[in-house]
Amino acid sequence: MQKIVVNGGAPLEGEVAISGAKNAVLPILCGALLADGPVEIANVPDLDDVSTTARLLRELGARIEHDAEASRFLIDAREARGHVAPYDLVRTMRASVLVLGPLLARHGAAEVSLPGGCAIGSRPVDLHIHAMQALGAEVEVEHGYIKARGRLRGGRIEFPAVSVGATENALMAATLAAGTTVIDNAAREPEIVDLAECLVALGADIEGAGESRIVVRGVERLQGGRHSVLPDRIETGTFLVAAAMTGGRVVATRARAGTQQAVLDKLAEAGADVAVEGDAIVVDMRGRRPRAVDIVTEPYPGFPTDMQAQFMALNCIAEGTGTIDERIFENRFMHVNELLRLGADIQIEGHRATVSGVERLSGAPVMATDLRASASLILAGLVAEGETVIDRIYHLDRGYERIERKLSGLGARIQRID
Ligand code: UD1
Repeated sequence: MQKIVVNGGAPLEGEVAISGAKNAVLPILCGALLADGPVEIANVPDLDDVSTTARLLRELGARIEHDAEASRFLIDAREARGHVAPYDLVRTMRASVLVLGPLLARHGAAEVSLPGGCAIGSRPVDLHIHAMQALGAEVEVEHGYIKARGRLRGGRIEFPAVSVGATENALMAATLAAGTTVIDNAAREPEIVDLAECLVALGADIEGAGESRIVVRGVERLQGGRHSVLPDRIETGTFLVAAAMTGGRVVATRARAGTQQAVLDKLAEAGADVAVEGDAIVVDMRGRRPRAVDIVTEPYPGFPTDMQAQFMALNCIAEGTGTIDERIFENRFMHVNELLRLGADIQIEGHRATVSGVERLSGAPVMATDLRASASLILAGLVAEGETVIDRIYHLDRGYERIERKLSGLGARIQRID
């Protein structure tokens, strides 16, 4: 199994180009199932989760051309007749549940295996099911599958809690439902806006994406079209934290600062100089040690749970003590035990971690437990004395495009070994 080896101590300096957003491209690929014509998607990152989604769409009968050089996918779902998303494909990636809305809207039937994905809490699908029922579907869960059927009609979906994925499923299903759908307490993440922009390019009628009420007027059909995926704000944030932790200066290009104000504010609070120049974000921490920051994870526009582990790594070597409150997922502190192996000082009480910064971490073998946890271990390795070997990096390949190459380009001493 592949591992990543990091030798700490080098401040990161230079430019890094940000890839398309994983959390936008996955729903957009699933959304292409709604279209009655070819959909061209540009700025697609080369990630394991993207390949898994492509396999799932092929399994459902879609034709897919992938131009890896140009980071472009062409999806033609006109002949796609399948409506079953099998366990084998769904279990590795929770986002597979995002075919539920499109399949139901297009075919009047969908069977989707209950998802797996990162083990960061129980992650139920009740909100997805609630949305489909509100649009008139009959839904049963049996033998490990969500089985939904019925012709969808517009309706009112009021989410009792904010869910990114359930909002996306609701949005996609509503585009082809008969009549108008009002989605209340919708998630407001930039990836939802990106999905909505793609659907509108295909002919959908959507208002309010990015706000907590979204109104969708159902149309007869969606046609083909093209869309370019927005930059990945979590990848961006990870490189910027790396700059701050190592006392370096990194310019993230092809980024979108407007989608991550909460993260940029925390970097500034930690003592970094943060500047935005067009689509570039510059973080400069040369000659300084970061100050510890307090973090509370919240739905957008609050601080993202997907950046929690990275800021915990920052606090591990910062001056002072910072608290990290994880309010989105119940079991998202699995990186803590691994950070302790590197010499961090962290106390956990329920959903809160208190991190007291230490002068230095020391390299050790550690194990990645989920996608963003893997990133936090690399970050810690970049500042630890000696060698840190990170095992189970398949988690990392699900969501970061060529991370070790991008970090090497910034001067990190990092390599992948077999
Ligand atoms: C998405 C992101 C993930 C991010 C998360 C929160 C993708 C592909 N993944 O995941 O990277 O960490 O948003 O920003 O976009 N919940 C329920 N019932 C449901 C659905 C969710 O109780 O039916 C709960 C979850 O357990 C969690 C909370 O709602 O506690 C938020 O989850 P949700 O926003 O749905 O996350 P995902 O869409 O799975």
